[in-house]
Amino acid sequence: MRAAVLWSQGDPLSVEEVELSPPGPGEVRVEVKAAGVCHSDLHPARGDWKMRTPVVLGHEGAGIVREVGSGVTTLAVGDHIVFCWTPACGQCPSCADHRPVLCDRLDKTTYRNKLPSGESHLRARDQALAPFLSTACFAEQAVVAQEGAIKVSRDVAFEALASLGCAVLTGVGAVTNAAKVPAGATVAVIGAGGVGLNVVQGAVMAGAARVIAVDPQPAALALAATFGATDVVPAGENAVAAVRDLTRGRGADFVFDTVGAPSTLTDALAAVKKGGTVVLTGLSRTDAQASVSMFPFVMQEKTLIGSVYGSGEPARDIPRLVSQYQGGTLKLNELVARHYRLDDINAALDALAAGAGARGVIRM
Ligand SMILES: NC(=O)c1ccc[n+]([C@@H]2O[C@H](COP(=O)([O-])OP(=O)(O)OC[C@H]3O[C@@H](n4cnc5c(N)ncnc54)[C@H](O)[C@@H]3O)[C@@H](O)[C@H]2O)c1
Ligand SMILES: [Zn+2]
Ligand SMILES: [Zn+2]
Repeated sequence: MRAAVLWSQGDPLSVEEVELSPPGPGEVRVEVKAAGVCHSDLHPARGDWKMRTPVVLGHEGAGIVREVGSGVTTLAVGDHIVFCWTPACGQCPSCADHRPVLCDRLDKTTYRNKLPSGESHLRARDQALAPFLSTACFAEQAVVAQEGAIKVSRDVAFEALASLGCAVLTGVGAVTNAAKVPAGATVAVIGAGGVGLNVVQGAVMAGAARVIAVDPQPAALALAATFGATDVVPAGENAVAAVRDLTRGRGADFVFDTVGAPSTLTDALAAVKKGGTVVLTGLSRTDAQASVSMFPFVMQEKTLIGSVYGSGEPARDIPRLVSQYQGGTLKLNELVARHYRLDDINAALDALAAGAGARGVIRM
């Protein structure tokens, strides 16, 4: 089969023939139908996140189960699935605490680009290729753990499902699970890209009274408005003042930083009201450090929350999001701004880097 291999960080990906060995115990082989291109693919490609290569990128996608290994209980051949890059063990203290996205097994496997079994099923040029985030779906096929593939309705187009397993879950979950935004709240979102647009629509679904999107790209702001943002603000030195102006000088109840740069976190903390909450989902460089102005942080009782992968239970939340899409309350088709073939993966990454907006989707 063909897959997009990152042989060296900073170089373009190479789309080439790759060997895929059959699924082992507890694993399934999936025919990938569509994959979204997330900024978390761009970070390793460009070298923001140092990692061992060669690696097959891609962690946001959907497809059909074509083969099941021994002991697989949750999936059958023919099932339609959304990939889940937090295949949790179900047994560690975090899993027992219903926080599977913090599963201890992920630290040893997924975040080291291994499957939960420790295996890689991918080989090219006589070398093992690491499966990025235990998914590796910039490929025609992928072998993943059964916990890394969530069964969904067969009635939904794969393109619509492509971004559900990262951008949508992360953005909507940050609102509903991490911040628990109540109806009537005022929300500001820094960054209106793949994750940020889903914070916007999560806030709308939660009944937020005001949703302010901040982004340097006019096209991203225009799209945010179609996702339900009530106000849009160009990013820059006046953005914090603009958010305060729109909130009667108080600041927003919740500010989501979906960019994750030191400067955006500073802005988020400045743009949130006294007693308000900042939720940080953006991940920039692994070595980034931000500074917090400690005195006002204490005196104004601000809260800062980190949120990974929607801070919920993906096996519960992914099918729920699909139902919300089917019920007409969640936009998925509108997230797909560009289509590519696997051969054009580098053009898709370049467009993302250039801030082209929303999501590019690879159709296999
Ligand atoms: N926490 C998680 O679980 C999780 C999940 C997915 C992605 N991420 C991370 O979230 C970040 C965003 O991912 P994405 O796929 O949405 O990226 P994206 O490229 O689709 O969107 C980023 C948006 O931020 C805008 N932007 C850039 N600089 C800005 C600034 N200074 N102020 C305001 N807006 C600015 C860009 O114009 C773009 O619209 C990445 O760092 C990614 O790695 C985290
Ligand atoms: Zn666990
Ligand atoms: Zn992602």
